[in-house]
Amino acid sequence: MPATVKTTEQIDKMREAGRLAGEVLRMVRDHVKPGITTGELDQICHDYIINEQQAIPAPLNYRGFPKSICTSVNNVICHGIPGEKKLKNGDIINVDITVIKDGFHGDTSKMFQVGDTGVLAQRLCRVAHEAMKLGIEMVRPGIHLGDIGHAIQTHVEQNRFSVVREYCGHGIGEEFHEDPQVLHYGKPGTREELVPGMTFTIEPMVNAGKRFCRLLPDGWTVVTKDRSLSAQWEHTILVTDDSYEVLTRLEGDDI
Ligand code: MF3
Ligand code: CO
Ligand code: CO
Repeated sequence: MPATVKTTEQIDKMREAGRLAGEVLRMVRDHVKPGITTGELDQICHDYIINEQQAIPAPLNYRGFPKSICTSVNNVICHGIPGEKKLKNGDIINVDITVIKDGFHGDTSKMFQVGDTGVLAQRLCRVAHEAMKLGIEMVRPGIHLGDIGHAIQTHVEQNRFSVVREYCGHGIGEEFHEDPQVLHYGKPGTREELVPGMTFTIEPMVNAGKRFCRLLPDGWTVVTKDRSLSAQWEHTILVTDDSYEVLTRLEGDDI
């Protein structure tokens, strides 16, 4: 199925949902410290989304997911389930927030470094962020999704890291995951051509070791097969008439 093109009214609602998701990440930042559990981070975000934002945490009960956010620590690639795990000095954690407001989704995630992290962890988080940013900066009408994937893959592999293939970005709107799939690897000029009004996420998962992953028996948690560290950043993007708008970026913040 081709991507849906959003109307001006729908785009306004996407902007609001995106802003709210970005604000949850900003709010939770100060809570990410050694000693806090991922379950406590979930509770804090859940309460904020429900009570302060009058919005809905999209992951909760999504295809059976049991919590309101995803927390992916160290060798967890994505979809980590919040629980009893305490953060400790040196950990890296991805917090992934998706909110529904007025029927529309905003989806964003970022890496947090807990206390003093090692040089590899720092470089991994930086390169993953640069990769997402390079992908975003490609976006304008007329380019193809393969151009985005190629830019991301090239940067990651130049830094001797690897791109996860099994999970990808996605169209987003009234549904959490819509067409098209946004692969974080690929060849220039391939796949869908972008047109104004498309909304999708870019969310590369970058492993310090090999690209392969393994699904834990809980049915959700995805880890690196070689137990290497993994990092991910995500934004929800709108294709505008001549470039892009980052719907989950807060005013005054960098991407
Ligand atoms: N937020 C994730 C994404 O970026 C999806 C999480 S699905 C869940 O697409 F069920 F684990 F929440
Ligand atoms: Co997403
Ligand atoms: Co997400």
